[in-house]
Amino acid sequence: MLQTCLFPAAGYGTRFLPATKSLPKEMLPIITKPLVHYGVEEALEAGMDNMAFVVGRGKRALEDYFDISYELEHQIAGTSKEPLLTDIRKIMGSCTFSFTRQNEMRGLGHAIYTGKTLVRDEAFGVILADDLCINEDGENVLSQMMRIYERYRCSIVAVMEVEREQTKSYGVVSGRFIEDDLLMVDDMVEKPDPSEAPTNLAIIGRYILTPDIFDILEHTKPGKNGEIQITDALKTQAKQGMVLAYKFKGRRFDCGSIDGFMEATNFFYAKEYKK
Ligand code: G1P
Repeated sequence: MLQTCLFPAAGYGTRFLPATKSLPKEMLPIITKPLVHYGVEEALEAGMDNMAFVVGRGKRALEDYFDISYELEHQIAGTSKEPLLTDIRKIMGSCTFSFTRQNEMRGLGHAIYTGKTLVRDEAFGVILADDLCINEDGENVLSQMMRIYERYRCSIVAVMEVEREQTKSYGVVSGRFIEDDLLMVDDMVEKPDPSEAPTNLAIIGRYILTPDIFDILEHTKPGKNGEIQITDALKTQAKQGMVLAYKFKGRRFDCGSIDGFMEATNFFYAKEYKK
């Protein structure tokens, strides 16, 4: 039903330096597939076919990844290596890719606002590719959120419970449960100190946003760390109308951290490679 998935991908990925000195963090591979590949697969499965990227300097590898590599493809055509490209070719044949640049790093809210030019006047998904999400028992996380969007037609954030001490790494929501796993948001705080966090329900990198978020973002003042925060814009949207927080089914690997990245690597190795 929704066509566009936005991938804010302008960040530096400093935790993975020196690798990310010349490699976009979204291109770090979990075994053989870059993180962004998993994200695009998830969006496609959720029915989206317009992949929109907000990139920054040094992110050319992302554009190249979703393009044909004539020389390489010619070299391996007809060899035993050719099947290794089947997945990426399927993706390239199923969707379009567009890119815009965020010239200054002014926060996730600003990155999403920069993506306005690539998003039609309709609701859209957002995937932060360094949050790798899987659900072995059913629909992927963005698809689960699409079902909720079909019923409520408002912005939705995916949340999970975290240890209290971890609230300072996330946007945190509070509100009232309207279904077992669905919360109507009344407050949101970006990266609160554990002593000030309203709950331990943390936002992860999956959003469905209605397009009025762009007007709100335009008027959202810099917040935590002097950056324009999507969390603050969503709080305004919740006050003006309705925002839902959904406790998703599945598992999320924080591949923006070394620990999470290793967990994801071990998980996919055990699942797909270990005989
Ligand atoms: C961003 C958001 C935060 C959210 C997190 C999910 O933070 O600002 O609200 O909880 O993504 O991964 P970042 O991890 O980019 O600092």
